[in-house]
Amino acid sequence: MKISKGRKKMRNKQRKSSALGFDAGRGYSLSCIVWSLVGFGLVVCFLSFKHQADSGQAHIYLSHLPATRELEDIEEDHFRLPPPHKVNPRAVKRRGPRKQRKVIDDYLEESSAVHALFFPDQRTAVDPTKGGNDTMYFYPGRVWLDTNGNAIQAHGGGVMYDDKTAKFYWYGENKNGPTYQAHPKGAQRVDIIGVSCYSSKDLWSWTHEGIMLPGEPTNVTHDLHKSKVLERPKVIYNDHTGKYIMWMHIDDANYTKASVGVAVSNSPTGPFTYLYSFRPHGFESRDMTVFKDDDGAAYLFYSSRDNTELHISPLTEDYLHITASVKRILIRRHREAPAVFKHQGTYYMITSGCSGWAPNRALAHAADSIMGPWETLGNPCVGGNRFYRLTTFLSQSTFVLPLPGLPGTFIFMADRWSPSNLRDSRYVWLPLFIGGLADEPLDYSFGFPLWSRVSIYWHKKWRLPETWRVGYT
Ligand code: DGJ
Repeated sequence: MKISKGRKKMRNKQRKSSALGFDAGRGYSLSCIVWSLVGFGLVVCFLSFKHQADSGQAHIYLSHLPATRELEDIEEDHFRLPPPHKVNPRAVKRRGPRKQRKVIDDYLEESSAVHALFFPDQRTAVDPTKGGNDTMYFYPGRVWLDTNGNAIQAHGGGVMYDDKTAKFYWYGENKNGPTYQAHPKGAQRVDIIGVSCYSSKDLWSWTHEGIMLPGEPTNVTHDLHKSKVLERPKVIYNDHTGKYIMWMHIDDANYTKASVGVAVSNSPTGPFTYLYSFRPHGFESRDMTVFKDDDGAAYLFYSSRDNTELHISPLTEDYLHITASVKRILIRRHREAPAVFKHQGTYYMITSGCSGWAPNRALAHAADSIMGPWETLGNPCVGGNRFYRLTTFLSQSTFVLPLPGLPGTFIFMADRWSPSNLRDSRYVWLPLFIGGLADEPLDYSFGFPLWSRVSIYWHKKWRLPETWRVGYT
């Protein structure tokens, strides 16, 4: 089913030469008819594909792996939203007519019925110590317990597979503290507690390895002082130095420092030594990630210039600094929460829009070269319902994990933030596949390259194929 780029180019060439070799005198009207028919066919195909994409049905069975095929089934989810909070008419009189309250406003309030629908309570928690029929099932949005029975605290995180220990490590923000607002116009926050680490062999049952990089309780000038911000930590292993390097977003409570921080360790389970923070090339850096390529080169991706654009900078060979080069991409697109991955030589990225802790529509992007140009493919979310697809299943991207042994199969990792009680934010992990035609593939060239679609499939409950587990657990 999949056509290699080489073959696609060949086909194009053939088409071109036959068109040029056409006998203009005799075949003029015939050519008109043929081309009109081709054009009509293309328009019909485009419209029907667009209709499918708009309705979330863009679906072609392209998985080359029978084991993952059922994860590419479209699962619809038609929940009924509770009626919006009633606004007290006296309050309306007092404050004057206000904008109509939206479902999403209710959703962000912990006390609302809409919130309760998407943040089911502890009784439905995924519990690896329990066993039974739910073993190995991911339930996006439910409380997820570690092997000690505590809710996993690894928000804005990423997963690294470590060859030496043959384990996965999940690093993320520990937000297990009270939520408050540092100043009336600022974002809700939790004091820095630190970066948690969990280990697992099967990606489902996670053991808490401790806090790898704790917040600083007393020194107010320290980057990690509890009053500041530490977000989106990501760890990569450096094959040359044998060190584990953590990159993270470092900020003050008002998000004006806008820097990246770096820490280093000899072991995946720490302790990590905090080194420094800086603004890459003097630019603001907020949401960020690091990506390690198959050739060992690594790159920093960060939202910059008031989150209006993303920047990419290669890291030095030891992964402790950035190099002199920088590329600005997705300019004026206002994207954040980048999660970068690679498949068959093409680089992909999922980003979110910028709406604080509120969910919004994800976009997938692709590039032939990591430093760009990057093109936008469209909304990767498939299934669920329109509300879900426009809110990335009520979550925000943080990482895309390739599954060793299952080429072309990834786990999309995202955060379902609970801004009025951030410690109760949940995880949305869903299968991600690459294949089929992208929705909006033609940003900079008309026709080629023809990108593949990135699809994140909604499933209320799902698990990794049995065959994968046998090989990896
Ligand atoms: C959106 C970002 O993606 C999060 O990491 C966090 O910084 C929030 N904004 C804060 O509002």
